[in-house]
Amino acid sequence: MEGSTATTGRDPGRTGDLRIAPSVLSADFGLLAEQVGEVAQAADWLHVDVMDGHFVPNVTIGPPVVASLRRHTPLFFDCHLMMTEPGRYLKDFADAGADGCTLHVEIGNTDELITQMRGLGLRVGLALNPDTPFEAVQPYLGDVDLVLCMTVFPGFGGQSFIGDVMAKVTQVRAAVTAGALEVDIEVDGGIDTTTAPVAVAAGANVLVAGSAIFGQPKPWEAADAIRAAARTANGQG
Ligand code: DX5
Ligand code: ZN
Repeated sequence: MEGSTATTGRDPGRTGDLRIAPSVLSADFGLLAEQVGEVAQAADWLHVDVMDGHFVPNVTIGPPVVASLRRHTPLFFDCHLMMTEPGRYLKDFADAGADGCTLHVEIGNTDELITQMRGLGLRVGLALNPDTPFEAVQPYLGDVDLVLCMTVFPGFGGQSFIGDVMAKVTQVRAAVTAGALEVDIEVDGGIDTTTAPVAVAAGANVLVAGSAIFGQPKPWEAADAIRAAARTANGQG
């Protein structure tokens, strides 16, 4: 995990490197491109939260917004699909400029959805809710590029980090290491300068942060501060 600088372009970077992924959920949707531009230098990926009103109660954005943002930034788009039927929209997201899509293992049909994502050239992610056990993702570890361990129950920004999830992050990291697998481990929810090093110490390498970045007056400084805090874990400081 030596990510010394933010990645550039739509390159996902080297698997396992530390990455900061600001979540646009906490940005001002009326000024999206401008807000993304403010964090571009400090971000590795842009995390785009898609909520369908079924898998989670909230409704956010879809492929047209991804397509609009794509015209304004070369950042890698890490699309988190909190949807019951993502298969209906994967092609639209790929066409819109999504680079990676992460869908939830809780919705089932996982093998078919992974095949569909690969066919579209997407980087493949699988997400687990805080109360979904490691065993739910274990069979797919050899088929995915990323495992997202939610550190809040999905649906809203600004919730508190659930520390109990760290045991699962450690399980995923142990399995990835044991299998010499090329898999990133992402955490999402309540990540800030205090929790980032906790998550990295447990084995996470991709840190999503919404309110701790876009909720701050200088979001680029907030993203840099989270990166610096993360590097203090595992003696990297
Ligand atoms: C929550 C979303 C998160 C959200 C995190 O369902 O998946 O990506 O933006 O927000 P914070 O960082 O504010 O907890
Ligand atoms: Zn998310």
